[in-house]
Amino acid sequence: MRVLVTGGAGFIGSHVVEALAERGHETVVFDALLPSAHPETSRPPRPPAGQRWIVADVRDRAAVREALRGVDAVCHQAAMVGLGKDFADAPEYVGCNDLGTAVLLAEMAGSGVRDLVLAGSMVVYGEGRYECARHGVVRPGPRAAADLDAGRFEPLCPDCGAELTPGRVGEDAPADPRNVYASTKLAQEHLAAAWARASGGRAVSLRYHNVYGPGMPRDTPYAGVASFFRSSLERGEAPRVFEDGCQRRDFVHVRDVAAANAVMLEAVREREAGAFTAYNTGSGEPHTVGEMARELSRAFGGPAPTVTGEYRLGDVRHITADSGRLRAELGWRAEVGFTEGMTTFAKSPLRG
Ligand SMILES: NC(=O)c1ccc[n+]([C@@H]2O[C@H](COP(=O)([O-])OP(=O)(O)OC[C@H]3O[C@@H](n4cnc5c(N)ncnc54)[C@H](O)[C@@H]3O)[C@@H](O)[C@H]2O)c1
Ligand SMILES: [Zn+2]
Repeated sequence: MRVLVTGGAGFIGSHVVEALAERGHETVVFDALLPSAHPETSRPPRPPAGQRWIVADVRDRAAVREALRGVDAVCHQAAMVGLGKDFADAPEYVGCNDLGTAVLLAEMAGSGVRDLVLAGSMVVYGEGRYECARHGVVRPGPRAAADLDAGRFEPLCPDCGAELTPGRVGEDAPADPRNVYASTKLAQEHLAAAWARASGGRAVSLRYHNVYGPGMPRDTPYAGVASFFRSSLERGEAPRVFEDGCQRRDFVHVRDVAAANAVMLEAVREREAGAFTAYNTGSGEPHTVGEMARELSRAFGGPAPTVTGEYRLGDVRHITADSGRLRAELGWRAEVGFTEGMTTFAKSPLRG
């Protein structure tokens, strides 16, 4: 099979390319090498021998059309990631992620490529799943700055103000994007679903949880929390853990995410035409951000983390996945455990 991997020079995309090659597939990498993802100092090396690279933007219709020639399936990883610097970044996010996806899908519709695996994200859910002892499953809204300033980090029951128990979010949970990036990731899914219906395509979104591992970008406003901690440790500083460190996340290793993509790309052609399906892609093993920082400090041999009480508006408190659907339907499971993954990540190279 020949797969067009958009964003294939990025953190996750480059591991997808590797996983596909290991399974005997051919790839075409399509990447704009965005400066936010590839600062001048870290321009990715030239493509390995035999690999086809196209340096272009997914918003460039002619380049996309050309790239789709002879391709069996598309793995769409290209996107601007992270929370960004401030709201002024919004047009760039929407341009790269949503206009970019629309152009890609329009060209797929025109060229007869019918199989799509999209890099989705758990950010589409907003706050994860919560239960109130009296009111059952509830959906707390965004946290107020006044509560966060006062160190009240846990969302409370919107009906009675009681404390809530966080649980694992399933794919059918309603979407509730809380920031620009999250809105663009949800719009990508809606576009993919509309494309599948209109063109008889088969679309899948793998909603990754917090992905970490070798090649993760360094700490920029566009990076993930594991890379902030790693970068601090490299500078000889203690990782700075926001809030009280008890935020729950599902940290999934990039090799497992790449394998999920490869397995899904092989399976997607068997699916019903016109359908769109989302799959949580997590380790299934929730941990707190504080635990992750401690694990990294230990494995790196650096100073213990500092819990600062700072916060970022737009961050959610807890979000952990129920990835049972992906396990049940594809037999995929995360293979890299938390301690093992963090221990090797503490010493593995970052990008940029
Ligand atoms: N890293 C995570 O924890 C995480 C979690 C959930 C979802 N995702 C999704 O996974 C995908 C890959 O993310 P990543 O962490 O590898 O980020 P990354 O920044 O390392 O990779 C993204 C790549 O896409 C390219 N790109 C961006 N916009 C483009 C455009 N318009 N045209 C062509 N290329 C473009 C960038 O140059 C970069 O190489 C993204 O879609 C992201 O939303 C990532
Ligand atoms: Zn209640």
